Order: sequence, then C-alpha cells, then structure tokens
Amino acid sequence: MSRSIYTRHACAQFSIHDGQPPLSTITMQSSSKAAGGNGDEKHLVCVTGAGSFIGSWVVKELLLRGYHVRGTARDPSDRKNAHLLALDGAQERLTLCRANVLHYDGLCDVFQGCHGVFHVASPVSNDPEHVPTAVEGTMNVINAAADAGVRRVVFTSSYGAVHMDPNRSPDIVLDESCWSDYDYCKQTGNLYCCAKMMAEVRGDGGGG
Ligand SMILES: NC(=O)c1ccc[n+]([C@@H]2O[C@H](COP(=O)([O-])OP(=O)(O)OC[C@H]3O[C@@H](n4cnc5c(N)ncnc54)[C@H](OP(=O)(O)O)[C@@H]3O)[C@@H](O)[C@H]2O)c1
Repeated sequence: MSRSIYTRHACAQFSIHDGQPPLSTITMQSSSKAAGGNGDEKHLVCVTGAGSFIGSWVVKELLLRGYHVRGTARDPSDRKNAHLLALDGAQERLTLCRANVLHYDGLCDVFQGCHGVFHVASPVSNDPEHVPTAVEGTMNVINAAADAGVRRVVFTSSYGAVHMDPNRSPDIVLDESCWSDYDYCKQTGNLYCCAKMMAEVRGDGGGG
C-alpha cells in the first residue's frame, strides 16, 4: 500500500494490490437505466458519500471526465441526493447505491467491479458518537476495497488531521510526518480533527 505525499493534506491516496473478489451479489438502488452494470471496469469508480458537499463535486468532475460512477449514500432516494441526477452524464453513467460505511459486507458488494474508490463519506462533526463512523468506516472501506480487488483508494482527509498540535512551532513547515495531537484534540473537544487523524493513521497502517 502506498500513500501519495502530494495529496497528504487534502486527501490520502492508497494503492491496493492484495484483494480477492467477493462472492456476494451487488444490491443497489439505481438512479439510471444502467442499474448494476454501469460499464467498463477500467472506467468504473465508486464515490462514498456521493451526495455530500465534497462528494458531489467529485462525482461531477468524474462524470465530466467520462468515468462511470457508482455513488453511495445511506438513502439514495433521499431528496438531498437528487441534484446528482441532474449532473451532465448522470443519466448514462451514474448509479446510486445504498451503503453504510459501518457495514463491511455492503461495501464489498458496492465496490465489486470498481477500478478505484474515492472515500468521501464521513461526518463533519465533533459529536463523539460519530468518531467510529470516521475511523472504523475508513478501515471498512479500505479493507472492503482490497477484498473487492479495487486497485486504488483515494481518501478525503482534512487539514484537521495535521494542525492540532499546541507544542509545534508555528514556523514549522507541515509535511506528511505531522499529525494532530490526540490528547489535545480530545481536551479541546475537536473530535472531528481527532477522528480524521486516527482514520488516516490507521488507514496508512495498511488496514490493520
Ligand atoms: N467541507 C470541507 O470544507 C471539507 C474540508 C476538508 C475535508 N473534508 C472531508 O470531506 C468529506 C465530506 O465532507 P463534506 O463537508 O462534503 O460532508 P457533508 O456534506 O456534511 O456530508 C457528510 C457525508 O458523510 C456521509 N456519512 C455520514 N455517516 C455515514 C455512514 N455511517 N455511512 C455512510 N455515509 C455516511 C453522509 O452520507 P448520507 O448522505 O448517507 O448522510 C454524507 O454524504 C469528509 O470526509 C470531510 O472530512 C471536507
């Protein structure tokens, strides 16, 4: 597994080489006529949290570049995801699938046949109840992607994974060796930063 340094503060990029395809069947809710079989595998990518602010832009840009996109949402039929269906290319090349990042098996199904996964789904919240969604959800995505034979995962991280360290000089140039301080994040209630840091550290550890 490798991580792109260039994308470190905006997202972390993982290549997966050891996956086996799952045997389970894809269960999905389709947004287009191309239910379930949306195309050539080399050009099929999945975006978790497709309806989120960032996810919507990722979907839009992928469609503009000619990719077939499988987007996930916990409830694809929710009206908050309707804007995705109006994107250029969506009718021909976008399907929406139901998936919760806390459910590993569902992720394996949704990732089947995908060349890449953009993992965007994660709560932007300091609520302690949401930390497992960010951390365990990311591990589930990475492991499910490996098991589904996905070649590359791009994980949307955050500056919050890096900058929360009161003991670091403000003159230091931040790089991939810098992480937010776990205890400081907890003491100050910045659980979003804590969760993004833990998700990336654990993800970079290779799925363990
Ligand atoms: N917005 C920014 O400026 C910014 C900056 C840096 C990094 N980021 C990162 O970008 C990503 C998206 O941020 P955003 O601001 O676009 O978020 P957002 O609009 O608030 O959306 C959050 C997303 O997380 C999904 N989600 C939450 N719990 C989930 C679960 N258990 N299973 C599956 N999906 C779940 C939601 O899916 P449902 O539709 O199913 O609820 C939704 O798609 C996050 O990883 C965030 O850390 C954002």
